Amino acid sequence: MTDPSGRVRIRSVVAALAVAVLAGGGAVAVGKVPALAAETTLRAAAAKAGLFFGVAASPGRLSSIVNQEFGQLTPENDMKPDSIATSSGGLRNTGNADTLVNYAQTNNMLVRGHTLVWHSQAGQLQGTSQATLNTFIGNAITRWGSRIAYWDVVNEALDDNNNGRRRTQWPHSLSRDANGDGDYVDAGDTDVIRDSFRRAKEVVQQNGLTTKLCINDYDVEGLTVSGGARNNKAQALYDIVRAYTQGTERLIDCVGFQAHFNDNPNSIISDDLQANIQRFADLGVEVHITELDIDDDLSNNDIGQGQANNYRKVVRACLNVARCTGITVWGIADSESWRSSERGLLFTGGSGNYQKKAAYSAVLDELNKGRSGVNPSSPPVSPSASASVSPSVSVSPSTPTDPSGCSASVSLNSWTGGFVATVRVTAGSSAINGWRITAGLPAGAAVTNHWNAERSGTSGTVQFANVGYNGRIAAGQFTEFGFQSSGAGAGTTLTCTAT
Ligand code: XIL
Repeated sequence: MTDPSGRVRIRSVVAALAVAVLAGGGAVAVGKVPALAAETTLRAAAAKAGLFFGVAASPGRLSSIVNQEFGQLTPENDMKPDSIATSSGGLRNTGNADTLVNYAQTNNMLVRGHTLVWHSQAGQLQGTSQATLNTFIGNAITRWGSRIAYWDVVNEALDDNNNGRRRTQWPHSLSRDANGDGDYVDAGDTDVIRDSFRRAKEVVQQNGLTTKLCINDYDVEGLTVSGGARNNKAQALYDIVRAYTQGTERLIDCVGFQAHFNDNPNSIISDDLQANIQRFADLGVEVHITELDIDDDLSNNDIGQGQANNYRKVVRACLNVARCTGITVWGIADSESWRSSERGLLFTGGSGNYQKKAAYSAVLDELNKGRSGVNPSSPPVSPSASASVSPSVSVSPSTPTDPSGCSASVSLNSWTGGFVATVRVTAGSSAINGWRITAGLPAGAAVTNHWNAERSGTSGTVQFANVGYNGRIAAGQFTEFGFQSSGAGAGTTLTCTAT
């Protein structure tokens, strides 16, 4: 999927940048790096950067643009239970889904199955038991097997209005919080999310499939919502993914951010999108932007450069996180979108005759810059886009400490006015059972969010300590935690103490 020579060169640029940052240097001699030829399709540019770029489709929309521009396909409606499920969890009417899977296979495209367990478009499954859902999960997964790279096992589990709760209607009414403590992970609890993933994982393992299992939702894209309040829906999703990836069961392989961006205060493109992608990635799951469209309201009805810059921000945020492995737009042309009045996609026209919008060129350009964002063959990001997301990556060396204790290193993803730090804690020659990191932050930096650690302090000297599930590290192994901060991160110092 990638061009190995391109990736090596991009890495060498990152290394050069890191050295310059560590040395306190200003200009980086990137001009000496040979230029990469720009790709001319979204599909090829994304593949070179090491991710897929896909589209939602239906059999009536399989014009030549689909396999030219896109390397991945999600059935927009044809794999939903109301299309293919019987009331007892069997399959019916799979012709359209088969057409899409066959088309993808012929054209060497990945498929995302969408979707198994969902309160909406449930058709004959509406109101059925977990046992029936499990039957359907087994039938759907085995029908297409490894021809489906990713399945959305559970879609839209969380409630609206930033209340941080799960939905209460079916199928979530199947879940039971036996002791009423607000979670669904205790003995005696049942959880439709966990139980659906368990069944899906079992089917994947029994059949030796490569299919990865995803949870998908909307309004979960940023750490914050409009006005800067915490995004409680994103936090709730994070808590679910953490519970079902960090314990004894690894049930969830991937997280989908639908990314239907619009002027609802919970649906905006926030500057901390990348930080949020990063914290999910730090749990070891792949992150995907699964249903991208960007309302023209977010660019004052400008579907030229204004909307293009919004697309740039989203694509760049994904590219800057190594485990963000795919972006899918929810349709080809504005006129054919489920939200056509928002004019939120990459093409105008329709019925197989499409014209590229400014947003298309912006996405292609951003993909062509690759993951490091410093490919000198591409024109610089326009000032308005770089003001919010300017890709810079730096990595510090490990702090030398007692080899029998632990050491720490940090990698920074920075933008104007903020950064995300991913801290790696590595055990020395003996296993450790707990750790504490004393971080010295540069003047002007103040932590706004953190994950996979306890924290005390906000600026200056800030302490981080392990949480329950990541304190024990085997000899020579590592774990990672992260934090988001305002200000600039270069010069951050770290000391690791085994506890
Ligand atoms: C939408 C389709 O685009 C429409 O054609 C259909 O009428 C309704 O569903 N979240 C999802 C998608 O997970 O399945 C939805 O797709 C859009 C919102």
